[in-house]
Amino acid sequence: MRALKNLKPSVNDASENHTINIGLLGLGTVGTGVYRIIQQHQEDLYHQTNCTIKVEKALVQSIDKQRAIDIDAAALTTNSEDIVMNEDIDIVVEVMGGVEEARQLIAQALEQGKHVVTANKDLVALHGAELLTLASDNDCDLFYEASVAGGIPILRALVEGLSSDRITKMMGILNGTTNYMLTRMSQEGLDYKTCLTQAQELGYAEADPTADVEGLDAARKIAILGTLGFHTDVSLSEVKVKGISSVTKEDIDYSQSFGYEMKLLGMAERDGDEIELSVQPTLVHHTHPLASVNGVFNAVYVHGEAVGETMFYGPGAGELPTATAVVSDLITVVKNLRLGVNGRGMVAPYKEKKLKPNSRVYRPYFIRLVVKDQPGVLAYITQTFANFDMSISQIYQKPLGNERAEVVMITHKVSLASIEAWMEDVETSTEIENIASCYAVEGGKQA
Ligand code: NAP
Ligand code: HSE
Repeated sequence: MRALKNLKPSVNDASENHTINIGLLGLGTVGTGVYRIIQQHQEDLYHQTNCTIKVEKALVQSIDKQRAIDIDAAALTTNSEDIVMNEDIDIVVEVMGGVEEARQLIAQALEQGKHVVTANKDLVALHGAELLTLASDNDCDLFYEASVAGGIPILRALVEGLSSDRITKMMGILNGTTNYMLTRMSQEGLDYKTCLTQAQELGYAEADPTADVEGLDAARKIAILGTLGFHTDVSLSEVKVKGISSVTKEDIDYSQSFGYEMKLLGMAERDGDEIELSVQPTLVHHTHPLASVNGVFNAVYVHGEAVGETMFYGPGAGELPTATAVVSDLITVVKNLRLGVNGRGMVAPYKEKKLKPNSRVYRPYFIRLVVKDQPGVLAYITQTFANFDMSISQIYQKPLGNERAEVVMITHKVSLASIEAWMEDVETSTEIENIASCYAVEGGKQA
């Protein structure tokens, strides 16, 4: 058996009351929520862990900033060494955000034998594997439940509740900002820009909302889910990403008339030993449970070979929902301390990674074209479809005036390689003025 470096001998003595000291790296939205829950749930935390959990220090940028919580000024510091090098601190909670500085501080904390809990999806998606190895080498826990879908305990569901199953598919609405925008566009007929401004005013979107609207935030989360669900080391660059900035009110209206809701879907799918990961605006059939997930809510649909379909729904962000995930991770670390099993909870990815080539990634697509309204144009479209082994499931044409028309279609399942090649082929055609939109379709009857 390995020697455990970090086990305080007295902590696993159940008869004694111990204090576990926490260092918070960051005291913003999530850090404040963590502080509040630790203060307000002391008794419950004690009964679950037999320990008193106390915030010893919090790293901030500005000591003088007005805080929404009543915290002793002496507990605030601008010097990270007061936390990561502090012998009295047992667990470091990283809720400051950013990548490089957070990575260095977490690495330093782990090297000092401190357990770490983080909410930082940007960091975990990029450097999770390396930090988990470092944690394991130091007999430390590194947990990150809050990094995906905020208050929904989806990571624990994958690594514990569903650990006996083999996951085949994970699909999620993983970004609250874009789901809020798409919901308002579809329910109130508002345009993209108005909804983005409102999301910013309500504090859902970042000041620079690029990572939200261009799908990168959701891509980080699906990379984390893919790694845990498929036991293989998925890197962010392997996720195909398309955001919602090109989605128009017209796309949403047409989607609804075909019976679909437009959602930004993160998708991780396994077929045999090949996997495929993407984030893209997707028409979700109204009968699918994800179609009715509205507003800032998140949801993750998981399909397992044995369990079949499951779905997890809840708030994907916000002070207290996110903080519950962080504090639940803290409780697990303290329980592990009691049992002397820190650093052994995570199963390192053990499967060889095989990405599915685009020629074998099949799904139906929604295509909206602006075309010349003249004889032979539909024949041209159907001929080019046939050339690329594509077939129409549903079609609608609307005159636009000036001898132009809009042709809107849902295809049967077609390979991603075919649809990409078709788009390239018709790009310069005189019959098709432009491909106004092309989105994946999920659910419904297209075979
Ligand atoms: P935030 O409100 O901006 O808070 C950041 C905190 O970190 C602030 O207290 C800030 O100090 C401190 N800080 C930042 N950079 C620092 C530096 N270089 N040195 C010292 N202190 C520094 O951020 P947040 O919304 O709580 O998010 C924190 C993390 O949780 C991020 O990784 C985010 O992606 C993740 N997350 C957030 C949510 C959410 O709903 N907000 C949900 C899931 C995950 P001052 O207070 O002095 O400015
Ligand atoms: N910007 C993210 C969202 C916050 O809108 O979902 C939670 O990760």
